[in-house]
Amino acid sequence: MDLFQPEPADLRSLRENAPVHRDERTGMWLVSRYDDVRAVLADPRRFHPDNALTAVTPIPGPVLRVLARAGFSLPPTLANNGTGTHADLRRLVSRFLTPARVAAMGPRIAELTAERLDRLDLGRRADLHPALARDLPAIVLLEVMGIRDVDVEALKAWSTASLELFWGDVTPERQHELARPAAAFHQWLTSRIKAADPEGDDLFGALRAQGVPIRDAAGLCYFLLIAGQETTTQLLCAAFHAVLRQDGLWPRLDEPGVAGACVEEVLRRDPPVSTWRRITAEPVTLSEVAIPAGEPLLLMLAGSGSDPDVFGEPERFCPARPNARKHLAFGFGRHFCLGAGLARLEAEVVLRETARRFPDLRLASAGPPPMLGLLSFRAPLSVEVELGDQHHLAGRRPGLQQFVSAGRVGQR
Ligand code: HEM
Repeated sequence: MDLFQPEPADLRSLRENAPVHRDERTGMWLVSRYDDVRAVLADPRRFHPDNALTAVTPIPGPVLRVLARAGFSLPPTLANNGTGTHADLRRLVSRFLTPARVAAMGPRIAELTAERLDRLDLGRRADLHPALARDLPAIVLLEVMGIRDVDVEALKAWSTASLELFWGDVTPERQHELARPAAAFHQWLTSRIKAADPEGDDLFGALRAQGVPIRDAAGLCYFLLIAGQETTTQLLCAAFHAVLRQDGLWPRLDEPGVAGACVEEVLRRDPPVSTWRRITAEPVTLSEVAIPAGEPLLLMLAGSGSDPDVFGEPERFCPARPNARKHLAFGFGRHFCLGAGLARLEAEVVLRETARRFPDLRLASAGPPPMLGLLSFRAPLSVEVELGDQHHLAGRRPGLQQFVSAGRVGQR
């Protein structure tokens, strides 16, 4: 099995035959059953998050020196912080992501979607990744964090390079190439944070106002400005593919509750954050397998969402399943994703608005798309579609609610 490109059959085989299994190549323990993954995430005392942002391919000395010269560091702040400073930093960031602030972004997300749909060349093919999914989540994240004057294209280049540097199966030459944009991103963050107004209404100012050391603030923002938008781009691409593959589901996305239910089902079955890491703080036993202290665990979030002990007929795309939101795509417990509400809203609005405008849109090819294959991030890299005719009227197919409650949407 290729850990960077696992197939559903690989994950099934792991769950059934080796639910807690040490991978010789990476030295990590693969944990694939839902109950085990959830138990690990729920227990921050025995399972620490310190290795969450450690480079998967060890970074060689010369590349480390490029990063060090730029002052690059990722001290424990949020996802990689098992210490007592986590709660305050989490509280600070969550002030920008309250349910009210997130809900208020709905009309703006619809507006950004409409602008991008307006630019599509009607009657032609389009790739919805660059056309719609690529920059929209970055713009939304920057706005919700109050961060202005950002070159969004530069941010995307920095963040895609950073994802590959930290989660890719990369050669030393490639690491060298990737270290430059990663370092440039960190330096840009450091200078913006140093220049921020502690009285300001933005995240940088809030970090200064709270007296967070510059090094910690830069590390926190580095993670947040990557995790808070690349993952949503990936979710959008996965969602377009999943929904468009279900017979007759696409034009029904404008019915109440359907787009949101589809998003949950994508998160369960094709989660963009496909794995996440922890480290054992003491000797533990999981699924009757003893693991010593200090061992890295790779939690197979993707496999956990297809565990038949929790989700009946897990391979089936079934937006009406009653327990779809039980998935672990956003983690669980103390480090549960702070942006879950925003990511859900973005995906729901973008899907619905696109389907409203182009109810006849279809995938250009039935074949599998090229996939992003990083250890913890897995999603289609393109969404080639034929647009079909454009419509402005919504709600042409009444009665879907009836299908949702009867549990039949998408089950064909
Ligand atoms: C589809 C989109 C997303 C997915 C699948 C996702 C997934 C995750 C996962 C698996 C974790 C680790 C949870 C754990 O350790 O238990 C996490 C943490 C986090 N996510 Fe997300 N995320 C997404 C979008 C976002 C967005 C939009 C933001 C910000 C606006 C965000 C901010 C964070 C933060 C700050 C943490 C660390 C929380 C902590 O350690 O206290 N994420 N996310």
